[in-house]
Amino acid sequence: FSSGSSVSDVSTESPKVEFAVAFDIDGVLLKGGEVIPEAKEALRMLNGENEDGIVVPYIFLTNGGGKLEQDRCKELSDKLEVPVSTSQFIQGHTPMRNLVELYNTVLVVGGVGDTCRKVAETYGFKDVITPGDIIAWKPDCVPFRTLTEEELKSCHPRDFTKVDIQAILVFADSRDWAGDQQIIIELLTSVNGRMGTVSKTSQEGPPLYYSHGDVVWATSYSLPRFGMGALRKCIETLYTESTGKDLGSTLMGKPHSTTYKYATQVLTEWRREIHNINKDPTRVYMIGDSPFSDIRGANQFGWISILVRTGVFQGGENAEDYPARSVQNNVLDAVKWALANEK
Ligand code: G3P
Ligand code: MG
Repeated sequence: FSSGSSVSDVSTESPKVEFAVAFDIDGVLLKGGEVIPEAKEALRMLNGENEDGIVVPYIFLTNGGGKLEQDRCKELSDKLEVPVSTSQFIQGHTPMRNLVELYNTVLVVGGVGDTCRKVAETYGFKDVITPGDIIAWKPDCVPFRTLTEEELKSCHPRDFTKVDIQAILVFADSRDWAGDQQIIIELLTSVNGRMGTVSKTSQEGPPLYYSHGDVVWATSYSLPRFGMGALRKCIETLYTESTGKDLGSTLMGKPHSTTYKYATQVLTEWRREIHNINKDPTRVYMIGDSPFSDIRGANQFGWISILVRTGVFQGGENAEDYPARSVQNNVLDAVKWALANEK
C-alpha cells in the first residue's frame, strides 16, 4: 500500500455521496500503535465494500504528531492496509505551517530525538531550535538531565543569550517534562526570548503555541494517560507561581474551530481530487474517542458526532460533559451507524 494520492478508480464511477467521514486515530483506529481489530473492515466498508457499493470520502483528523505527515501516512497505510494520502491527513501541528509567515526563529518542543525539528524545517521555519540545543550549550540550565551521546549528535548549541527566540511551538508530547518546562518558563519570562535574561514585567517573552490541549489520551495501557494538555496545566501553574500572572497561550487541534475549518477545506479538496465531487459535503460524521476534543469540536462545528468506547471514553450510555449524537462500541459499528443514518 502506498501513501500516494489514488484511492481507487472505482471511486470516480460510484454514485456521488453527500456525506463524508472524519476519523480520529488514537483510541479509534489505533491504540498504543496497534490496530484496533475492527478498523480495517470499517475503512474497507467506506471504500465500497457495503450493501450499496458506495464509496464514501474520508479524512484522518488526529491531535497526535511528532512525525512528518508523509511518514505518518505511510505507517498508517501499512497498518490499516488501505492507501492513505497526505491530502486526507491532518495532525495537531499541521496548521502550524501557517506560522512560518510570522516567525523566523522558533523553539520546537516534543517528539523523539530531532524529528520535530525536521518537521518544522519542512514546514518552512528558517531557524529551528530544540530544548536539546539549549541543554547542549548550558547543561546546568536543566539540573538532573544529561543528554546521551546519541542526542548530542543532533544538537546545535550556540550562545542563546544572543538569540531572540520569537515563538515557542509545542509540536508533540514532551519526552522530558522537567527540562522542557524549565526552558519554556525561562523563555516566557525572558526579555525577547533570550536565555539568561529576566523581564521585569514577565511579559516580554515569546508567545506559546500548543498543537492540541488533550489532557489525557488513549495508549496501550488500560486507562487514559496524561498528554500535552496536562503539561500545559503544569506550565500555567508554574508561571503563575513565579510571576503572579496568568499565562496566555494558543491551542490548535481539536476541539478548536480553526482545525475543523482547516479539515473542511482538506475534505472539500479531497472530494474534488479523488471523488470528483465539486461541492462541500452536506454532512460530516466525526468518529472519535475523546468527548473533550473530538465530540465537543464536532458538535460545535455542526458535524455529526459518534463516540466510540475503545479509547478515552470508557463510560456508560453517553459522555456527561460533551454528549455525542451516537455512542457505538467501536469504529466498525460507528461506520455502520453512519451508513444506516444516510439511508
Ligand atoms: O497525543 C495524541 C493524542 O493526544 C490524541 O490523538 O488521534 O486521539 O487525536 P488522537
Ligand atoms: Mg483519540
